[in-house]
Parts: sequence; C-alpha cells; structure tokens
Amino acid sequence: MTVDDLWPILRDAVRARRASSPGAFGLRPDGHMDSAAQQLFELFEPLLDLGRTADGWVVAQLGQSLDGCVATRSGDSSFINGPENLLHLHRLRAVCDAVIVGARTVAIDDPRLTTRRVPGPNPIRVLLDPNLRLGEHVESARVFNDRQAPTLWLCDARWQDRAVARVGIDRVLAVDDLLRDDTTLHLPNAVRALRARGLTRLFVEGGGVTVSRFLAQRCLDRLHLAVAPVIIGDGRRGLQFSGPARLADCARPPCNVHPMGSDHLWDLDLRAST
Ligand SMILES: NC(=O)c1ccc[n+]([C@@H]2O[C@H](COP(=O)([O-])OP(=O)(O)OC[C@H]3O[C@@H](n4cnc5c(N)ncnc54)[C@H](OP(=O)(O)O)[C@@H]3O)[C@@H](O)[C@H]2O)c1
Repeated sequence: MTVDDLWPILRDAVRARRASSPGAFGLRPDGHMDSAAQQLFELFEPLLDLGRTADGWVVAQLGQSLDGCVATRSGDSSFINGPENLLHLHRLRAVCDAVIVGARTVAIDDPRLTTRRVPGPNPIRVLLDPNLRLGEHVESARVFNDRQAPTLWLCDARWQDRAVARVGIDRVLAVDDLLRDDTTLHLPNAVRALRARGLTRLFVEGGGVTVSRFLAQRCLDRLHLAVAPVIIGDGRRGLQFSGPARLADCARPPCNVHPMGSDHLWDLDLRAST
C-alpha cells in the first residue's frame, strides 16, 4: 500500500467519529504498507485514537526555526518548512472540521486555509479576533472572498452587531465571555462554541501567539512542532507564555519524532501530560 492508497482511507477514518478500530477501515499497519505509508499512518494514528476516546479534539501545528521562531521580524514565514510539511499541513486541514488562525496571521499572510495540495474537503475557516482588530481589512481577506469554504469571524459577544454589520450574520461567531476582565482571552469558551456548531475536530494553525494561548490554557490535545534547519534570530516567537520557575515543573509531554524532508516533526501528546 502506498501513501496515495492509504491517504483517503486514513482521512475518512479520522473524520469518522468514534471509529471502532483502524481495521474497520481496512487499515493494517504492517508489511502491507511501504515505508512512506507506514510513516503517514504513524503520524495520524494518534488522531484516530483520539476520535475513539473523545467527543472532540484540538490539534495545533507550528513550523519553526531551530531558534524557535515562526517568522522573521517583518512577519515573513514563507516558507520556513519544506514541501513535505506543507503537504502535512494540508492533510491536517483535511481531517478537521475547522482551521483556526490568529488575527495577525490573517493581517500578514492573508492565507486561504484550503486543502488544495491533497484530496480532501476544505475545513471551515475561523479567524480568531476577539476584539475585531482586523477592522475594515476583514472584508478583503481571501477567506471571505474565494468561495472555497465557509469562514467565521470569531469574536467576543460584545462586538456581535459590529461584526455582523461588516460580514453578515452567517459569517460571525460571537462568543459569550470570550474576553474576561475586558482583556483576557478565555479559549475554552471558543472551543465550546465551535463544538456547539458541530465543529468537533479543530486545527489551530498559528501564529505563535494563538498556539501559545491554546497551549497555556490547556486547550490542546496534540501539538505538531515542525522544526526546520534554519536560524532566524530576532523573529516572531513560536511558543511563548509564562512558564514555571523551576525546570522540574516544566512540561515534558510524551512525543514521537518524525523525519519530514529536511525538517523534523515533533508530535506532542498533551492530553497525557495534563
Ligand atoms: N510558521 C508557522 O507555522 C506560522 C503559522 C501561522 C502564522 N505564522 C506567522 O506568524 C505571524 C503571526 O503570528 P503571531 O503570533 O504574531 O500572531 P497570531 O497568533 O496570528 O495572532 C494573534 C496576535 O495578533 C495580534 N493582532 C490582532 N489583530 C492584529 C492586527 N490587525 N495587526 C497586528 N496584530 C494583530 C493579537 O493581539 P491582541 O491579542 O492584542 O488582539 C495577538 O497578539 C505571521 O508573521 C505569520 O506569517 C507562522
């Protein structure tokens, strides 16, 4: 079995809620797969397992340099990782109901967030923008104009009317108590609101601030860190949050490491470490 044979089976197995077992989809992780297919299976098997044990899950990915940056100081992040990781990114989108990005990523990259590199459905695109900082630029964002998949502007409920006036009611997800004390973002409420819409498999695609907030608020089940052999220096940070003072108290989640072209992808099991 090759990657091309395996991918549609694996994709549909991960998308099916509460899959009984990989075998139910004809998946046998043994000598029937070539080595590339075996690696693909190992990358997505944890998401299959999550689907069997949970009503919903959240995975994030960051592509970063050896020194922990996700972009240069000007915001250039195309492309830190190699083409193999881009393919992986699109596969992650294809197994999820929704892909979430932070507002600065939209402002700088204007991403499409589609699955154009792999066979598979486009996820719903979610722009996490609690205070509507995207302002008037939101209407020109590609995700609101390319007609490839629905897009939601996710904000605090206090801004609902303003957001609806800009993009229409179908494109706004206004969440109660997304902002606490006017400034602190409370992400479990965002995850709950997305699940209430039937969006149960969530992919947080960046940037560094957004993934860090999901991680710090224990909203991630798995984190894929794709480390590329490049050194950026004073770029935009990847993971950054106030951690413990003692090294002994820092998280050391169980992980698998997968070679991916010239990069290495660290697949961290955050559920096991909480
Ligand atoms: N390598 C990767 O895997 C990857 C993936 C995605 C993006 N990126 C890169 O990451 C960078 C963006 O990531 P990030 O961590 O800086 O932010 P982000 O997570 O995309 O967005 C959240 C941050 O953006 C701020 N923000 C909101 N609206 C803004 C606006 N209109 N202009 C400027 N900032 C705004 C937010 O501030 P408040 O909280 O105060 O609202 C918050 O700090 C870009 O350069 C992008 O190219 C890299």
